[in-house]
Amino acid sequence: MPTAFLGTIVHTKSFNEFESIKNGFLVVSDDGKILCLGNDYQTWLTNNKGNRPEEVVLTDYQFLMPGFVDCHIHAPQYAQVGLGLDMPLLDWLKTYTFPLEAKFSDLKYAQRVYKSVVEATLRSGTTLASYFATNNLPSTLILAREAVRQGQRALIGKVCSNCNSPDFYVETLEESVTNTKEFVTAMKNIGSPLVLPTITPRFALSCTKELLKQLGDITKEDNLHIQSHISENLAEIEVVKGIFNTSYAGAYDEAGLLTKKTVMAHGVHLEDEEVRLLKERGTSVAHCPASNTMLGSGICDIQRLINSGVTVGLGTDVSGGNSVSIQDALLRALDISKHLDFFKKQNIVGTGEAKTQDPSYKQLKYKQAIYLATLGGAKALAMDHLTGNFEAGKEFDALLVDVSVVDDPIRLLTVDELVEKFIYTGSDRNIIEVFVSGSRVKKGCVGE
Ligand code: GUN
Ligand code: ZN
Repeated sequence: MPTAFLGTIVHTKSFNEFESIKNGFLVVSDDGKILCLGNDYQTWLTNNKGNRPEEVVLTDYQFLMPGFVDCHIHAPQYAQVGLGLDMPLLDWLKTYTFPLEAKFSDLKYAQRVYKSVVEATLRSGTTLASYFATNNLPSTLILAREAVRQGQRALIGKVCSNCNSPDFYVETLEESVTNTKEFVTAMKNIGSPLVLPTITPRFALSCTKELLKQLGDITKEDNLHIQSHISENLAEIEVVKGIFNTSYAGAYDEAGLLTKKTVMAHGVHLEDEEVRLLKERGTSVAHCPASNTMLGSGICDIQRLINSGVTVGLGTDVSGGNSVSIQDALLRALDISKHLDFFKKQNIVGTGEAKTQDPSYKQLKYKQAIYLATLGGAKALAMDHLTGNFEAGKEFDALLVDVSVVDDPIRLLTVDELVEKFIYTGSDRNIIEVFVSGSRVKKGCVGE
């Protein structure tokens, strides 16, 4: 039997279009598709006489919103989240991250970490995640099976790297290509349409030209998704430019890796020409504000990317980022944007003029940040035909939020206030139910 949710429903239609419906209704079919979203349930019922759905009536402090999309997360690094964030990128990779990821040849260890990371992201409301796993094929398939078992929508990447990596964590060109092909084949039988493979060169620095080229060819055969890193850290960029004798974006483009189904993490220091190239290719950027701050990579001006026509979503980049929550990433994106706005009027020593920011810079608003965390992310992953908002025909990937669960509001809130309060003060405890393709994947919260 279909289900009708009755109450406050919010979602976005574009970067600047936020729709909220008080006393609204949303009907979900048996197979998890959105049948109708509107504000006149009685008329809908009349047109569907004899077919009254099962009804879920929301309280005054509850609302329904689309699930969060994490465009960039390293599943194995959940094992070290919050640790070792005292170094810049390249030192951090060498000191903490490569040794950690090498441990995933131990499949029991991999099973334990991957079970936990999928649980944690679902608990935080991530209904779609684009995961980096490790170089290790069998454990990458364990991550895919965990996502299937727990009902999360996910893109899964076997990480590829064949140079500039430690001896204990590097592949040969042949291993990387063969295992990637084997991975793509195995994913066809993974058992759920919600979980798909994504081709994952770690970053240009750790892949030879030939490997990038062959990964580009594999991608083309099946029109696969692609994910990687771009222009995250100044030291990294200098090395990449030296090796490839081109821009960072150019290194990927020459291999055919910039497509409409590509998402590149970071893009903090992209040059104008590279931004134009990404726009031309339809390639998106995963903005990872927590990681950019934690690893001291820089401040990414996503308004510049968006104004240039590049699609932007949000990523936690665990464990460069210190939180698995996209709600946290959303807040950090707002913070970063407010900081960029300060530079219109504030000089670093507190005196003088020194206005380095373009006076026309527009600060990100929380409703736009919600777009980035939902529909923007779905677009960045080329999955917006399936998810990201509550358009009829899409799959029901949603969060049931209750702002009264941990904080009893002093008065009745307007719809906008309800959402704003959740964004600025809420946490995973306010997300009391999570749905992916119509199935409940998290139920209950405090004291559950
Ligand atoms: N660049 C290459 N690998 C990584 C990684 O694991 N994390 C981040 N933040 N950047 C990378
Ligand atoms: Zn990353």
